Amino acid sequence: MTDLQKITPAAKALPDAQTVTEVTHWTDRLFSFRCTRPRSLRFRSGEFVMIGLLGDNGKPLLRAYSIASPSWDEELEFYSIKVPDGPLTSKLQHIRPGDQIILRPKPVGTLVLDALLPGKRLWLFATGTGVAPFASLLRDPETYEKFEQVILMHTCRQAAELEYGRQLVESLPEDPLIGEFVGDKLLYYPTTTQEDSAGTGRITDNLTSGRVFADLGIPPLDPAADRGMVCGSLAFNTDMKTILEAAGLREGANSAPAEYVVEKAFVG
Ligand code: A2P
Repeated sequence: MTDLQKITPAAKALPDAQTVTEVTHWTDRLFSFRCTRPRSLRFRSGEFVMIGLLGDNGKPLLRAYSIASPSWDEELEFYSIKVPDGPLTSKLQHIRPGDQIILRPKPVGTLVLDALLPGKRLWLFATGTGVAPFASLLRDPETYEKFEQVILMHTCRQAAELEYGRQLVESLPEDPLIGEFVGDKLLYYPTTTQEDSAGTGRITDNLTSGRVFADLGIPPLDPAADRGMVCGSLAFNTDMKTILEAAGLREGANSAPAEYVVEKAFVG
């Protein structure tokens, strides 16, 4: 029995309990895991659900997590930070295959293709674990059916923190299920800000300087052609909104699709 099963014995009795099937630790601050998917759970790629564990007081301790797996996957995948003092992640980081987690099967969120008007290029802008909803969208054939080009800009402090996204992106063209949809449509622009690597600098700086457009050989943001999805810290999201609005893009929602959408990545 793992520590987790000891601290969450009652989770088994909960109707929303799911079983962990796989855990991967990427760095001492980042991990991903997979779990069983409730048969009844239907979601749109990019949405989030509440997941968690039973707290010490016996009550569920839940946080919003983007589903990182695509809607066709028979399991669910999540990508998480480990915060030493975080009420949930200090415990969640110790899960192992066979353990139970709680999952409320009510998906919601704005980082969905339905909230964007048709366009030519889809830009996915993420810092840190904000790449999670894009890990779902990048594995959804609909993403490539709707757009001629898909560009993932992902920025972290250190190169090791990019690895989850990098391995996913590099596996896509060869993927037996969606490789043919991806083709040569996907462009990847990973950068680090506190360590030298092949690409450096904040997403915001690489956009405003025009460096990313020059490097990728594509034109600057144009509201007639470009659509954006933003997922990162509050400060990042705010700065990105300013840049996208200045380029003439407007924020969309499920009820009123437009040129870009934003959601805060879970931290804690
Ligand atoms: P930087 O190292 O220059 O702060 P964090 O771990 O603090 O959430 O940051 C994750 C990544 O997001 C880091 O590379 C960080 O760059 C970058 N970042 C943080 N805030 C912003 C912002 N307001 N605009 C652009 N990038 C940001």
